Amino acid sequence: MRNTLLAALVLALPGAAFAEEAKNPAAPRIAYFTLVGTEMNALVAMVKGETEYDAAKASRGAADLVALTQYSGDDLMAPGTSNADLPGKTRALPKIWEDMAGYGAAGKAFGDAVTELAAVAGNGKDALAPAVAKLGGTCKGCHDTYRAKDF
Ligand code: HEC
Repeated sequence: MRNTLLAALVLALPGAAFAEEAKNPAAPRIAYFTLVGTEMNALVAMVKGETEYDAAKASRGAADLVALTQYSGDDLMAPGTSNADLPGKTRALPKIWEDMAGYGAAGKAFGDAVTELAAVAGNGKDALAPAVAKLGGTCKGCHDTYRAKDF
């Protein structure tokens, strides 16, 4: 009985789980970067003093970013999902696919900055601030070249 129920649940999954992806093949990529942005925003708020610095929270946020950089993301970059292919549905510029090496290098700079951030995030606001600023520079570095100004 339990197994039957489980099988039914698994069979029911694809339609529900993939509906969003079918509507917009770029949705998983946008979702990934939304997670990155969520963690970054929380750290920036601490640096700006909009929220109180909390060593444990800062370390957890940095660790979440580390986890996100460990996600290969290969399946997020399927050909045919640029803003030329899917107008209005993504900000990813065709340049990504024309220059995968450059995009990869921008991703590596981001990964390195996240590693540096994770090493110091719990060491006080004065240690957190420059690491967050450096990380922010790597977001901008990629966005300026590979992300459209708007959808
Ligand atoms: C290697 C390139 C790269 C790096 C590094 C990068 N991004 Fe992005 N980001 C993109 C691309 C490309 C998109 C557009 C995705 C799409 O629309 O399909 C994007 C989208 C986003 C989005 C989704 C919302 C929107 O309007 O586009 C957020 C939020 C975001 N990035 C935040 C960040 C933050 C914060 C960082 C740094 C901590 C960062 N990104 C680092 C390439 C990058």
